[in-house]
Order: sequence, then C-alpha cells, then structure tokens
Amino acid sequence: MINMHKEYSSIIDEIKKQVPFEPEICIVLGSGLGDFAGKVETLKSIATSSIHNYPVSTVEGHQGYLHFSRYGGKKLLILQGRIHYYEGYSISQCVLPMYIAAKLGCGKVLLTNAAGGVNPLFKPGSLMLASSFNSSVISKKLADLLGSGTPHQKNLFLNLPSEEMNSKIMDASFKENISLCKGLYWMTMGPSYETVSEIKMYRKYGADAVGMSTVPEAYYASSMGLDVASISCITNFAAGLSAQALSHAEVMETADRVKHDFERLIKKSIELL
Ligand code: HPA
Repeated sequence: MINMHKEYSSIIDEIKKQVPFEPEICIVLGSGLGDFAGKVETLKSIATSSIHNYPVSTVEGHQGYLHFSRYGGKKLLILQGRIHYYEGYSISQCVLPMYIAAKLGCGKVLLTNAAGGVNPLFKPGSLMLASSFNSSVISKKLADLLGSGTPHQKNLFLNLPSEEMNSKIMDASFKENISLCKGLYWMTMGPSYETVSEIKMYRKYGADAVGMSTVPEAYYASSMGLDVASISCITNFAAGLSAQALSHAEVMETADRVKHDFERLIKKSIELL
C-alpha cells in the first residue's frame, strides 16, 4: 500500500508556504493545451522543478508549473505539465497533482487531455466531455494506492464523472455555441499508439476516445472526495480509422487549431462551475 501522506506531505508544506490563496477549482492542461494558462490572471506560478521530489514531465508540450490564477470570480490551481504513467512514473507520482489539489482545498477538478477518436463520428478537432472512464489498465495499481483503509467493496466512484459538473460544462458549450460530444474515455498504457486491432476491440467495448492519461487522476481525485470532469480534445482519428500514420506532431497541431474554442469552453465552464 502507498501512503501518499508519508511520501508527499513535505511537498504540501513547501507549496503551502507560497500559495496566495486557497484554490477552488483545479484545472489540468493536456498535451498541446498548455497555452490556456496564459489566458487568465495569474497571481503566482511555481515551477515544479523548484519543488523538491516533484516528478519531471518529459513529454513535449508539458511545461511544469503550478499556477495560482483567477477567472470569473473563481480561484484556480492550473497544472501545466502532466505526469504520465508511460514516462515510467508510479501511479502515486501520476496522481500527486490531485493530492496537492485536494490538500490545498480544491473541491473540483477539470481534467483536459488530447485523445484519439475511436468513435468514427468524432473527427479531429472535436471536443468530448467524458461520460465515463475505463480503468482496467490501472485497477490493480489504484487498489494499492487507495489502500487497505478503503472499505471493502465500497463503490467510491458512483459520481465519476460528476453529473453536476458535466451538466454545467454542457450548458457552457451551449452558451458559447461550441459543439461538445460526450463519450467513454478509454485509457491505454502507452507510450506507443495503439494497434488497429486494439482500437477495434476498444470500440466494441464502447470506447469513444482513447488516451494515455486522465484516468488515474480522475479515480484518485474522486476517491479524495473531489468532483471530477474531463474534456478531451480529439486530435486525430485513432489507429486504423484513417490512412494517416499517428504522430505527436499531429496531436499538437490539432490541439493548436482548436485552442480558441477550447479556451472559450473552459472559461465559460469555470464561470458556471
Ligand atoms: N491514442 C492514444 N493517446 C492519444 C492519441 C491516440 O490516438 N491521440 C492523442 N493522445
């Protein structure tokens, strides 16, 4: 069993000395979506490299910062620089930002990510709100993390994602006239993209989008009592759905193309949450 408190309480002490306020909403910026951090008023930015023992994100497009920002009357903790399981980090390191968010007082977390479209109707450039998650990749690891203190067979995830957050984000999309589809976010281990037959299998199981992040954070944050929602930017057709080979460059290009809609949607969502 992993004891987050034992491992990371010194990080919390270090960050608490620097925070300008108690944040309400945590926003995690996915691949290619990091620009959002520059679009809101920021009171304090902490480079994660300055925090002793904080894992370093090695993926292009993930700068490591914790921003304490304000928008729409809300106090935000914006995490720029995700830690992925495929980078070789442990699940406890991947969910460390959620532990920080919870310990600093956030009640809600909005996760964002780049994902491949498995549902053939979800074209590159679409935005998708997660209606559910698949956790099979990490269930054993997550069990170690949630640990023996968790009541046996208790369903910790009845409100994952948060129905209330999802309905407010949907309202935000109507108000901003941005089309937002809904679907099952399926996590794969990575770091390589999936094979064509894997994607066929995930589709048969109901997947709408596939990505290599988000699920550990979503489950852990929910287990800590936070309300959780997730928005995916569909950056490419998943393997086999188009003739084009998948690449991180395409992921970054598409995320860049939709960043204005993404920014409007996140801003309006923050106002309503
Ligand atoms: N598969 C997995 N992760 C991804 C993809 C994909 O096609 N696109 C962006 N992240």
